[in-house]
Amino acid sequence: MAMSRTLARATQALGSSSAAPLLSRPLHATPGSKKIVGVFYKANEYASKNPNFVGCAERGLGIGEWLEAQGHQYIVTDDKEGPSCELEKHIEDMHVLISTPFHPAYVSAERIKKAKNLQLLLTAGIGSDHIDLKAAAAAGLTVAEVTGSNVVSVAEDELMRILVLVRNFVPGYHQVIKGEWNVAGISYRAYDLEGKTVGTVGAGRIGKLLLQRLKPFNCNLLYHDRLKMEPELEAQTGAKFEADLDTMLPKCDIVVINMPLTEKTRGMFDKEKIAKLKKGVLIVNNARGAIMDTQAVADACASGHIAGYSGDVWYPQPAPKDHPWRYMPNHAMTPHISGTTIDAQLRYAAGVKEMLDCYFKGKDFLPQNYIVKEGQIAPQYL
Ligand SMILES: NC(=O)c1ccc[n+]([C@@H]2O[C@H](COP(=O)([O-])OP(=O)(O)OC[C@H]3O[C@@H](n4cnc5c(N)ncnc54)[C@H](O)[C@@H]3O)[C@@H](O)[C@H]2O)c1
Repeated sequence: MAMSRTLARATQALGSSSAAPLLSRPLHATPGSKKIVGVFYKANEYASKNPNFVGCAERGLGIGEWLEAQGHQYIVTDDKEGPSCELEKHIEDMHVLISTPFHPAYVSAERIKKAKNLQLLLTAGIGSDHIDLKAAAAAGLTVAEVTGSNVVSVAEDELMRILVLVRNFVPGYHQVIKGEWNVAGISYRAYDLEGKTVGTVGAGRIGKLLLQRLKPFNCNLLYHDRLKMEPELEAQTGAKFEADLDTMLPKCDIVVINMPLTEKTRGMFDKEKIAKLKKGVLIVNNARGAIMDTQAVADACASGHIAGYSGDVWYPQPAPKDHPWRYMPNHAMTPHISGTTIDAQLRYAAGVKEMLDCYFKGKDFLPQNYIVKEGQIAPQYL
């Protein structure tokens, strides 16, 4: 009876067209040694520069000794792409895969099919769109992330990017490096943030923190989300709810993207959506690169419709050398860094360790950490 209820829920979450879920994987660890694979970015010469730099492959979140002391096997690699990569060698017999959005191990339906022992997929950070969540749900896998672990890190970074774009900072920096001095070349398109209309698309944990941080700048704050925020927070930030995204977009001088990458948001900012934006709009996107149509953004930056674009998220990651966003005018892009400050690393490493401990001890995780549980996908990813 319990199983048939679970199957019914899974079928509901996945839609009637999905294959019948197997749900054969346990929620908690079965007895015995487990094979845990961690995929992280490599730090090379930087690995030894900071004892708290736990997010790199060389440190593997600092949980290696702890896992091995309990008789588990822990394999850490940065080699995640292609049929002969290190990750592929372990897909068939690993029980747990830990990965980060900064250097994502893309977990496709094909990989899930091969992963016969896999039980648990952990995201060290926030955002599990690198996993085919429908396939994970159908296979009965558990997917969890360290919800909230780096939201302050990202909100602070977004505020920085807004200021970098509004003040036209990057060309000034380049002038200095190149030995130039041309005030006019920067000031003809540098503005104050005060008085500008800033709209966040998505006002969950990060969006709310950004609105709080923007409040002292005396901007006109708007937000669009599927959910209206608590009245106290609306009053505290002064942000106005916009139920219709297309009504909000033409009002904004600056648009910040703060929603997850889902089937509904993938490619949402295409040519048509970008055409609805004010001419000369500035965009900050630390959410996910694939929410934007890559070429449409590059074209709008080239035409000047988008006057500046900044963010740390790309598709795919690492971004290839010929990615159009590397070459478009007026961008202030970086590699995926906002959520992997040292403070964030310590928080998401502790969160992963705590979830593994629960998994070994047969305990549930914090409810907000589950992205896929017993065939059900978390509502923010639907
Ligand atoms: N760059 C980084 O280092 C980094 C770090 C953390 C998170 N992120 C990204 O930021 C995203 C948001 O993180 P969060 O902690 O604020 O998540 P959250 O779940 O707290 O908030 C997401 C918000 O988006 C809203 N939303 C979902 N789908 C929507 C839609 N179709 N239209 C409008 N609103 C929608 C939800 O209702 C929710 O309020 C993550 O999913 C992740 O992709 C990036």
